[in-house]
Amino acid sequence: MSLPKINPINTNSWNQLEKHFDNIKNSHMKELFALDKQRANKFTIKWDDFYIDFSKNRITEDTFKYLLELANEVKLEEAIKSQFSGEIINKTEGRAVLHTALRAPQNATFKVNGVNVMPEIYEVKNKIKTITNNIVNGHRKGFTNKAFTDVVNIGIGGSDLGPAMVVDALQYYKNHLKTHFVSNVDGDHVNEIIKKLNPETTLFVIVSKTFTTQETLSNANTIKAWFLNSNATQKDIAKHFVAVSTNIEKVKNFGIDETNIFPMWDWVGGRFSLWSAVGLTISLAIGYTNFDALLKGANKMDNHFKTQELQNNIPVVLALISVWYNNFFKAETEAIIPYSQYLNQLATYLQQGIMESNGKSVDRNGNPINYQTGTIIWGEPGTNSQHAFFQLIHQGTKLIPADFIGFVKSLHGNQDHQNKLTSNFLAQTEALLNGKTTDEVIAEGTSKDNIPYKVFKGNQPTNTIFIDKLTPESLGKLIAMYEHKIFVQGIIWNIYSYDQFGVELGKQLATKILQEIDQKTNIEHDSSTQNLLNHYKKGYK
Ligand code: F6P
Repeated sequence: MSLPKINPINTNSWNQLEKHFDNIKNSHMKELFALDKQRANKFTIKWDDFYIDFSKNRITEDTFKYLLELANEVKLEEAIKSQFSGEIINKTEGRAVLHTALRAPQNATFKVNGVNVMPEIYEVKNKIKTITNNIVNGHRKGFTNKAFTDVVNIGIGGSDLGPAMVVDALQYYKNHLKTHFVSNVDGDHVNEIIKKLNPETTLFVIVSKTFTTQETLSNANTIKAWFLNSNATQKDIAKHFVAVSTNIEKVKNFGIDETNIFPMWDWVGGRFSLWSAVGLTISLAIGYTNFDALLKGANKMDNHFKTQELQNNIPVVLALISVWYNNFFKAETEAIIPYSQYLNQLATYLQQGIMESNGKSVDRNGNPINYQTGTIIWGEPGTNSQHAFFQLIHQGTKLIPADFIGFVKSLHGNQDHQNKLTSNFLAQTEALLNGKTTDEVIAEGTSKDNIPYKVFKGNQPTNTIFIDKLTPESLGKLIAMYEHKIFVQGIIWNIYSYDQFGVELGKQLATKILQEIDQKTNIEHDSSTQNLLNHYKKGYK
């Protein structure tokens, strides 16, 4: 079986949604709240430690009904089953999509080509646990017999963003190990990190699913050369370098000892891989028990997504609302605003997950698409973002749906700060909903000339994702929530969410240009690129 291939705009519900959109596009949410005192209760989902209020959206019960019908018409439930059953749903790459298996309990069964992959997963998990414990408690030592103090994750894209975001988000739970992330091929990045390191006490984790990525291999080679330039010898590499990859041969050729290789599988997409050994740096930073709790949280969200009826299914509801804005209101972007400094890197992480997955323009029938797909994701934590770009959300000309993510409890327990943070968190969505009318501005005693500038139209949609506390488990749930939202949207838009061919062309051209810079070849360019290349060649030495 393969994924359904239904063009969403040919469905009955899409047609209904178009008509319905014409009727409600000018309604103000303020009126919808006034008309129905139960609105907030009707459009809230409470699940575990998650409280999701989606009532501050430009939807009515009819909108919600038609959106759910759309989900049914595109056979979403069938698609969810296909994903979890290990079918080859990443058809363009001929792979199953089973990052959900990585966080499932040991007694679960996930089959790829008829073989249960759970034993292999747990074998690697045990290996992660062993090395984590040995590094954290100092049993495993470096080449001068000193315990490790620093860990450097060398990877890019999915092999960097997930671990980097999670380690930053869960820094409260961190042990003594200092963690660093090298990703960019910009040599200044790796050199700035190297400056902080002692080769005798640093563990290097090279993460590359393919082990062919230019950035990662360049950084790994630079670091290896620096390491060998200290008092270390070739045989010391075995103590200090470990690798996570599907490409065991290439890792061995790099000089890494077989015992230091953590395998992953082609049925784990890069941007969904932090649950695999790609998350080794997470485990080292926060300890294996916390890493496992992150996975358990994600597994709880998987079960919710798999079993909950669509109208109470958090990822499904969030995905449908996003489709509503993207395809009917023609909103181009979505903001992610966490009211937690810990989630500083969440939007950056989700940019890859969402935009690499759903930035597609050919449907599952191979036809060009004539409707909008992937949304543009951006965001920064509140309250900082309030003092930066909120002006545009409040009074600009664009419709920008936003997810507000907050926690009831802070981690350090400073209630004064937490109350201030939460009052901002709540105030912003209320202000975005209600705006400020001319009468209200006049009542404030505003001078006549300034009145139009102080009016806020409001009616700006938000989802509030209110979670009890930031823990490894709740973060696991949150990330998995967005992963499933991506999947649902891909199904509705009739696209393949798990390939990323769009990133290849630039890589291929960069390889050719590099050969030119190295004076190995000469190829024809457009005049702009040629001039820029000449400019570089004149000045780079
Ligand atoms: O940029 C494309 C991409 O393939 C991402 O999908 C992936 O996360 C990243 O490159 C890194 O790839 P690898 O883990 O193979 O080095």
